Amino acid sequence: MRQVAGSVAVVTTVGQAGRYGATVTAFCSVSADPPTVLVCLRSGSRIAEAVQVNEIFTLNVLPEDADLIARTFAGEFDGLHEDRFAGVTLVEQESLAPAIAGTLSLACRMVRSERHESHAVLFGAVAAIGHRPLPPLAYHDGGYRGLRVVPQTPAPILRPTPSPRTE
Ligand SMILES: Cc1cc2nc3c(=O)[nH]c(=O)nc-3n(C[C@H](O)[C@H](O)[C@H](O)COP(=O)(O)O)c2cc1C
Repeated sequence: MRQVAGSVAVVTTVGQAGRYGATVTAFCSVSADPPTVLVCLRSGSRIAEAVQVNEIFTLNVLPEDADLIARTFAGEFDGLHEDRFAGVTLVEQESLAPAIAGTLSLACRMVRSERHESHAVLFGAVAAIGHRPLPPLAYHDGGYRGLRVVPQTPAPILRPTPSPRTE
């Protein structure tokens, strides 16, 4: 999976279990109608436990310049400061989990949770969207990256296949 490029997001949740956030790449779209996404969280992690109790989560898809936020919510600085949210600007959303300002946010209500081996697979119905059209932050081969546009390869010139001769 190290060689599979992934868009980087921070999952946030708030509620009875408290406020938590964690960096993820294991998320994807499930269906468009109704808009549904899923995220895979390691069972037993604080974020997985909290989302399952709170039953709401927001996927904050990070822009290219947000590697520090990604590293913060992956726990890199947990030893330095207790609160991963310190210094992070949040957009509070009624009865939904907060969005991180400047991200593409998908605020969800959890509609299903499945345990698969080491991970919980959590499905969320998207209830609100905050959009910021910025190039996304990607993660590949152990590092944060930006995307670039690749030069378009010219289409091959296709010649029609000669039809078999009928005599
Ligand atoms: C780039 C990157 C992607 C990650 N993706 C996931 C993921 O998809 N699911 C997951 O459970 N943890 C993932 N992690 C690890 C969590 O961010 C990390 O374990 C975090 O501390 C969990 O939060 P918690 O300790 O508060 O539960 C990822 C870490 C990094 C650096």
